[in-house]
Amino acid sequence: MNRICSLLGIQYPIIQGGMAWCSGWRLASAVSNAGGLGLIGAGTMYPEILREHIQKCKKATNKPFGVNVPLMCPRVEEIMDVIVKEGVNIVFTSAGNPQTWTSFLHEKGARVAHVVSSARFATKSEEAGVDIIVAEGFEAGGHNGLDETTTMCLIREVRAVTHLPLLAAGGIASGQAMMAAMALEADGVQIGTLFALTEESSAHENFKERCLQLSGGDTGVGIRHFAPIRMVKNQLYIELDKAESQGAEKDELDRIMGKGKARMGIFEGNLDNGALEIGQAASQLKNLKSVNQVMRELLDDYVNAFVYILDNSGFVEGLKK
Ligand SMILES: Cc1cc2nc3c(=O)[nH]c(=O)nc-3n(C[C@H](O)[C@H](O)[C@H](O)COP(=O)(O)O)c2cc1C
Repeated sequence: MNRICSLLGIQYPIIQGGMAWCSGWRLASAVSNAGGLGLIGAGTMYPEILREHIQKCKKATNKPFGVNVPLMCPRVEEIMDVIVKEGVNIVFTSAGNPQTWTSFLHEKGARVAHVVSSARFATKSEEAGVDIIVAEGFEAGGHNGLDETTTMCLIREVRAVTHLPLLAAGGIASGQAMMAAMALEADGVQIGTLFALTEESSAHENFKERCLQLSGGDTGVGIRHFAPIRMVKNQLYIELDKAESQGAEKDELDRIMGKGKARMGIFEGNLDNGALEIGQAASQLKNLKSVNQVMRELLDDYVNAFVYILDNSGFVEGLKK
């Protein structure tokens, strides 16, 4: 039995990452109903909005689902209070110190996963007592690690320091990529970009359409030296990049970024001035699909990857036909 599946009570070790402005109850319940684990992204929600999403999600699925809480978010105490009162027992934390909330969530009977971008943070997460580690590489959409470690290197680096159940994230948008992550000894995957661009994602149609037209190299990392964010290279990105190459400090970059740019780009569909947060894997995606179709293709291609590897493994003694 797969460790992630048994720990979380799900059929497939496929987690839909919490995503600001994309993953409300509709996306989360669709992924859970399809046998993965849906996460409601609480990072940009007011507590009463989160409560509403949790209640709607409970009505839309009888399968397990969870909530993602970026620990830097301003209303974190109230958010945790809603999670506990609503009886959600799977919490994925990110962007902060896992020591702060893990014991509290365990006392309330929740499983806790924490997202990291380096082996150092994985060790800290294990010390904090988390149940699952999510290793997120530099290909990922949204906030990235300062070390710029890619998923392929990060999985092995994290695996070398912990035996905890491990989810690989960043750049995984196909069954083949999922298979590669699991060959590197991840126990499952957390996927963002692929699910952000589904019918059930609450992102604006303009955002989905633009992201489905991207080619390789069309995303870049803004505010690279302070708080890296992977996004489409649009007007906003070009402005940030120019300022950074002229040596702008964090204050100046924060001023350009301003407040509410992710909402403007992802949720309101302002393609020039908004932050269009999306991962490198978007360049592989061309059509808007339903979550069910995405899940079916992930699983079919996971199996196809096995066949491909066996067909091409004649160089290994004992596997020769
Ligand atoms: C639009 C968007 C918003 C995101 N928002 C969050 C967030 O609020 N909290 C978080 O922990 N991760 C966030 N992420 C990261 C995802 O949860 C996931 O780990 C990442 O997208 C995986 O890499 P991929 O995009 O290559 O699949 C976001 C990603 C995207 C694309």
